[in-house]
Amino acid sequence: MPGHLIVTDEDATRVIALRRPDKKNAITQDMYRAMSEAIDTAQDNPQIRCIVITGGAAMFTAGNDLEDFLKDGTSSPDAPRASAAAKFLYSLAHNTKPLVAAVEGIAIGIGTTLLFHCDQVVAGKTATFSTPFIYLGLVPEGASSLLAPRAMGHHRAFSMLVMGRTLSADEAQAAGFVNTVVPPGEAEAEARKVAREIAALPAEAVAISRKLLKLPPEEMTRRIDQEGHLFGERMRSKEAVAAFTAFFTRKRA
Ligand code: COA
Repeated sequence: MPGHLIVTDEDATRVIALRRPDKKNAITQDMYRAMSEAIDTAQDNPQIRCIVITGGAAMFTAGNDLEDFLKDGTSSPDAPRASAAAKFLYSLAHNTKPLVAAVEGIAIGIGTTLLFHCDQVVAGKTATFSTPFIYLGLVPEGASSLLAPRAMGHHRAFSMLVMGRTLSADEAQAAGFVNTVVPPGEAEAEARKVAREIAALPAEAVAISRKLLKLPPEEMTRRIDQEGHLFGERMRSKEAVAAFTAFFTRKRA
């Protein structure tokens, strides 16, 4: 995974940067592992007061690497979901550090569902948010079936998670899971600014207050497990395998 995931500490902020532009920042198992590690190792590090996750100036991410999905769907009948992705979702659920996302361009699948674990989301004006699980024959993941209705209400969550509707940055802001919309290309700089603002606040009080606002991690991991079980079943469904195959066949056509 040379260079696909770059983690840097800048003063009190840990920046996790997805850098796989030729594949639209699609997330591989190695990238999930590196992201988990970056989050997990921040937990007991008092120097880190905030975490920023960014995909750079052009895109956030096209979501889970579909080739990995295809491999999972055909080769691991007993696995609920590839372990690195599941572990990353657990890291998000247990994370205690304020998490800020900078979204430009596409935020697909887990690129959108991970935002429900964030505390602040900054989006470029042209960003789009979608969870096309339904078109892949899949179901929501990452505790999004729990967190999205909580963030934006059942009806909007249904449009996005079940009907596969795409939201613009302004719509995502109106829905309540984007804080700030900035001109295209400026999300990362703004997210770093927000992170510095959070890092300057009294750390213990921030941690306690954040915990009060969040659902208990166990509730989130329980839902992650439930979704993961169903997701794994669906990945092996004819609907899903046909959708993944169609995606890559289209590429060769
Ligand atoms: N997994 C693996 N590879 C992906 C990918 C993904 N999720 N998304 C894009 N890529 C790859 C493409 O295969 C292509 O690779 P190639 O150049 O070797 O053929 C490259 O990234 C560029 O993508 P391309 O489809 O040519 O760009 P586009 O601008 O026409 O479309 C998307 C961009 C994101 C709309 C389109 O790639 C897409 O729909 N991707 C799948 C998104 C998805 O369903 N994610 C899973 C959600 S659960």
